[in-house]
Amino acid sequence: MVRDQVTTSAAANDDDRRLKQVLSRRKTQSEAFFSSAAGQWDRLREELFGATSHLRAMAALLEHDLVVGDLGCGTGQVSQWLAPFSERIIAVDSSREMLRAARERLSGQRHIELRQGPLEKLPISNGELDVALLMLVLHHLPEPKRALAEAARTLRSGGRVLILDMLPHEREEYRQTLGHVWMGISEKQMTQWLQEAGFKAVRWRTLPPESKAKGPSLFVATARRV
Ligand SMILES: C[S@@+](CC[C@H](N)C(=O)[O-])C[C@H]1O[C@@H](n2cnc3c(N)ncnc32)[C@H](O)[C@@H]1O
Repeated sequence: MVRDQVTTSAAANDDDRRLKQVLSRRKTQSEAFFSSAAGQWDRLREELFGATSHLRAMAALLEHDLVVGDLGCGTGQVSQWLAPFSERIIAVDSSREMLRAARERLSGQRHIELRQGPLEKLPISNGELDVALLMLVLHHLPEPKRALAEAARTLRSGGRVLILDMLPHEREEYRQTLGHVWMGISEKQMTQWLQEAGFKAVRWRTLPPESKAKGPSLFVATARRV
């Protein structure tokens, strides 16, 4: 009975993903591996350049003249990371406090414009964006479809949206402690919202959990504005 109840929960799925990560890490962290040249290189690479240098470099694949909207930018971490790779970034948030922190973090970066406003009524003109990012934001919104419709309005035809958010989870306490409205978003739900907002070519990927991350597993969804 317990097995039936536990193995089908979102927490069990998260554990399963982490277990796979841990086992694959163990395989490559065995002593035999680290005494080999390949193992030494893995360790040296991380020591010298960090665990995510290759991922950070991926942003260079963006065409440099794209106009990127960082929607719900918070303290501006995503914009800061993209700054060397994008000629123009419009970062929007409704919170004065978040924008103050973002302004401090991004000071001197003239190609990043901070605008205050709601995601449900973006202070961005029709078709102004090539790319719209909604990173860890949708689960805060009572009506995510309105924000997606706004992302569609502000994107040029063929422009792309990228959503990073949590998979369905059971951490009820996040509603009180973090102001979450949605306890994660399923692939079916996300695809339906995107299609209803005028997006096509929806792609969905579950991200492998990072070893030190304690939160629910994440997904990334991308789609193209019709
Ligand atoms: C969890 S933070 C994520 C910040 C950032 N995207 C990141 O990945 O670090 C969510 C942000 O969404 C903003 N936000 C929430 N609801 C909003 C709304 N309706 N309109 C505009 N911004 C909103 C909050 O102020 C907050 O800065």
